[in-house]
Amino acid sequence: MRVVIIGGTGHVGTYLVPRLAAAGHDVTCVSRARRQPYQPHAAWARVRHVTLDRGAEEAAGSFGERIAALEPDAVIDMICFKLDSARHLVEALRGRVRHFLHCGTIWVHGPSVEVPATEEQPRRPFGEYGLQKAAIEEYLLGEARGNRFPATLLHPGHIVGPGWPPLNPAGHFNPRVFQDLARGVEVALPNLGLETVHHVHADDVAQAFERAMANWSASVGESFHVVSAAALTLRGYAESMAAWFGREARLQFLPWDQWKQTVSPEEAAATWDHIAHSPNSSIAKARRLLGFQPRYRSLEAVQESVEWLVRAGTIKISD
Ligand SMILES: NC(=O)c1ccc[n+]([C@@H]2O[C@H](COP(=O)([O-])OP(=O)(O)OC[C@H]3O[C@@H](n4cnc5c(N)ncnc54)[C@H](OP(=O)(O)O)[C@@H]3O)[C@@H](O)[C@H]2O)c1
Repeated sequence: MRVVIIGGTGHVGTYLVPRLAAAGHDVTCVSRARRQPYQPHAAWARVRHVTLDRGAEEAAGSFGERIAALEPDAVIDMICFKLDSARHLVEALRGRVRHFLHCGTIWVHGPSVEVPATEEQPRRPFGEYGLQKAAIEEYLLGEARGNRFPATLLHPGHIVGPGWPPLNPAGHFNPRVFQDLARGVEVALPNLGLETVHHVHADDVAQAFERAMANWSASVGESFHVVSAAALTLRGYAESMAAWFGREARLQFLPWDQWKQTVSPEEAAATWDHIAHSPNSSIAKARRLLGFQPRYRSLEAVQESVEWLVRAGTIKISD
């Protein structure tokens, strides 16, 4: 198929574009060409690149037509964050694509009721990002089920891979937490450390996109969680990472109001966003309908990323 991926040089595209090219698809990657994929791959030589700024093209009302003019069989939209952006693209592609895949997020859910949460649970999103992604999901599923627009949504958890810092056991992104665990330095966690995070390796997200395309009839009109097989508690995550470094974790537990004083406002905001969601998502549906089999457990995915941070000198295990 002729596949156009919008935003294909990021976390997921680094793995997805080579997978699609290796599977024999004719791939066009759309981006502003400001960045390179996190890892090189020979398959990129066979990928066509189109430089477009989505924001500028949307403002001019031309983005959808620019994508349609590429005559794709399938479009993968990695970077849609507003309902208006989704509408604009769907209107341009209606009747002109065989498959449309949108990258969503598990933030379409707010706090869980039963865990692991399934795709069928009522949405209770909060925060602008989650609210918009949930509105896009409702819109695309409505278009698919009511108007035969061939949309599929894939909802990743916290995307991990070598090249960028993973969400850490304190629920934010400062790699220092891993360094402290590696050195046996005490780490403070909010509350009892029993709130959860749910990672996924970027290559497993890529696998889910590839399988959704290969299982068109099962994936159109559906949304799927794309996470590792099991979420982690912050405490269990911290203990496991310390053990991986050959240490026993030295943990302190502080009530939220005290804990947030121990980190920067940005770190506190990131942690609050993660623990207020405390995701724990089921992948039973993706396993059943797509044959999705994540290759990485959460800890394996994180460890691969932390190994990269150690090699890059971002995390210093000793002085
Ligand atoms: N990160 C996570 O943990 C996480 C978790 C759940 C869901 N998600 C979802 O994952 C998706 C993002 O995927 P990702 O993490 O693989 O992306 P990413 O790493 O942020 O990469 C973004 C890609 O889009 C391109 N891009 C950015 N702005 C653009 C613009 N205005 N016009 C054209 N191209 C643009 C970038 O290249 P240039 O900069 O060169 O243009 C790059 O190719 C989002 O839908 C997000 O909601 C992410």
